[in-house]
Amino acid sequence: MRAPRGTQDILPGTSEKWQFVERKLMDICHRYNYKEIRTPIFEHTELFQRGVGDTTDIVQKEMYTFEDRGGRSITLRPEGTASTVRSFVQNKLFGLPNQPTKLFYIGPMFRYERPQQGRLRQFVQFGIEALGSNDPSIDAEVMGLAMNAYEELGLKSLTLVMNSLGDKDSREAHKQALIDHFSPHREELCADCQVRLEQNPLRVLDCKKDKDHPAMADAPSILDYLNDESRSYFEKVKAHLDRMGIEYVIDPNLVRGLDYYNHTAFEIMSRAEGFGAITTLSGGGRYNGLVEDIGGPETSGIGFALSIERLLMALEAEGVVLPIEEALDCYIVSLGEKAEEASVRLTHQLRQAGVQVDKDYLQRKMKGQFKSADRLNAKYVVVLGDREIEQNAVSVKDMETGQQEELPLEEVTEFLKKQLAGGKD
Ligand code: HAM
Repeated sequence: MRAPRGTQDILPGTSEKWQFVERKLMDICHRYNYKEIRTPIFEHTELFQRGVGDTTDIVQKEMYTFEDRGGRSITLRPEGTASTVRSFVQNKLFGLPNQPTKLFYIGPMFRYERPQQGRLRQFVQFGIEALGSNDPSIDAEVMGLAMNAYEELGLKSLTLVMNSLGDKDSREAHKQALIDHFSPHREELCADCQVRLEQNPLRVLDCKKDKDHPAMADAPSILDYLNDESRSYFEKVKAHLDRMGIEYVIDPNLVRGLDYYNHTAFEIMSRAEGFGAITTLSGGGRYNGLVEDIGGPETSGIGFALSIERLLMALEAEGVVLPIEEALDCYIVSLGEKAEEASVRLTHQLRQAGVQVDKDYLQRKMKGQFKSADRLNAKYVVVLGDREIEQNAVSVKDMETGQQEELPLEEVTEFLKKQLAGGKD
């Protein structure tokens, strides 16, 4: 039996990297005062139809949707924003005194896409959502957090690409311009784009099939259709990024693949050689109006999400080695029946005292046990033999210096705790 296509097992040796990265991201969220939210992995299908948008590839082609035994249409979440907003509305988080509501999540998402490097059918997103603020400084905060997270993990070859999709009126004006522009070429566009042209012309700009069509090159840019308010908002966001010393490039063709965006939209790309064909590390933007669409009060929102898979790929491509400790604090070697009994007791006591410790469970000979200790990179080895037990003089060996101490069994725990806490002289 094999795992389904587009999924992967994360095994020891790699899972440490996941833990390291996830801890780092949580630590950054703590610093920026974003609190964790955990929502269900499946939701009512309607949530994503309304939230992500009926005309998006995600909803039309990529959702894992099924009917449950009660006849309800259920979907494995393809992203985290719609669920977060649903929960924000359902739990009336907008009524809490501390606003904006700043949330983060880490968890698996599911999209039925064609798997390739950096594209899976089950992947893990880390995302943040700030709900209830319409201040340009929070747009800058979200992009700043995203860039900081990558940089603190050691990535250097990053580009922040940004655009404004404007407010509703700006988008309406742009939409009409797109229809006027593409309609004469209608027959030359792919079947999907012919439908998009009617339902959501912005999506044409995002088409993978028609991206080289000559009409794409001179398609009307949203930036030429921003009204004064939208333009001023965008200018303020840019000015805040400048103040923070965060570099960015403007790409008027950046439209994002989800329907809920307006005003700020951004993606972070990797410029690392060998990163792969897909260069997008993460994406996000503003989604004023989504909370109302999901049944809540008028609330603005902005957020972004990255996948841990692509983050780890980028670290690899840039040759970043994460500082992951692979040593074991202590290994207990025992020989003889009495010694084995004492080792069971000591192992338990040490663990209760907070020391990381392991022992032999395969009745290996002394030599084999030392080999295990070596393989596990043990910092200390405690040797228990029947003689040591009889004389109550256990030997503790510092594997780094080779120094050996003899001490009474009941003092081993305190001794190791002190040594491991840096109490060596
Ligand atoms: P998205 O651009 O669809 O946006 O996904 C965000 C990130 O998730 C991508 O940049 C990529 O790192 C990762 N990702 C997406 N699909 C896959 C895949 N099949 N395999 C591996 N990684 C993938 C969203 O999902 C929005 N909810 C982001 C957001 C939050 N906007 C506002 N708040």
